[in-house]
Amino acid sequence: MSEPPSLEHVLRTTFSARSFTDDPVSDETVGRILDRARFAPSGGNRQGWRVLVIREAATKELFVEHLEPTMRIYTTMGMADETPYSTVADTSIDVEAAAASDIDVSRITDSITGAAVLLLVLVDLEVVVAFDKDQDRVAIAPGASVFPFVWNILLAARLEGLAGVINTGLHTSEPAIKEALGIPENVALAALVPLGVPTKWLTKLSRNPVESFAMHERWGGPTFEIES
Ligand SMILES: Cc1cc2nc3c(=O)[nH]c(=O)nc-3n(C[C@H](O)[C@H](O)[C@H](O)COP(=O)(O)O)c2cc1C
Repeated sequence: MSEPPSLEHVLRTTFSARSFTDDPVSDETVGRILDRARFAPSGGNRQGWRVLVIREAATKELFVEHLEPTMRIYTTMGMADETPYSTVADTSIDVEAAAASDIDVSRITDSITGAAVLLLVLVDLEVVVAFDKDQDRVAIAPGASVFPFVWNILLAARLEGLAGVINTGLHTSEPAIKEALGIPENVALAALVPLGVPTKWLTKLSRNPVESFAMHERWGGPTFEIES
């Protein structure tokens, strides 16, 4: 096997892969990925993540069926200059019309049907710490007990010459997906992660510079400058 990429390289180049070759990904490989990903941190080290390793075509089709209208709505909201599915602003779009539109979302759905394997990452709410559960806004803290694990999956995939993407579009259909796959009541969807050999390795990611988001001491404080 060739030299693994450096951590510096991996941190700067782990992109969202949505287009895959036909190369298979064995259960053995998935096992190694999960075995490395499990070292992710979680609140109280409670490790509430659960994973469904999905290969069945019927399940992929189910996901596509649910993702299509959601991604059409998402795209329409974006075209209206909105943050799609914002938790702080109402939408101005006609959601039903958007869902029924023929906007092409194949870039997303192809990442599901074309992936060698799908990992549906779930989180057991019985063991998740959510310090912000009583705040008058969407809860952020519980996600922090599962998304480091999800990201570790993508980092561990790099060691296997694989890539993937975090897909959260199924959340709009969570009850239907849970029912179809027998997922218990207190277990929530976290992300669907398609994995495979990407058709292209991207190395230049579009990200804002540190100065655009970091400041000293308080909101509005002096910009945190980095030496370049
Ligand atoms: C929390 C989260 C949710 C995401 N949901 C989706 C999704 O539903 N569908 C999708 O195709 N990509 C999804 N992405 C991937 C983002 O679109 C991607 O990280 C971003 O556009 C940057 O792309 P790049 O890493 O290739 O530069 C998600 C990423 C995160 C972190």
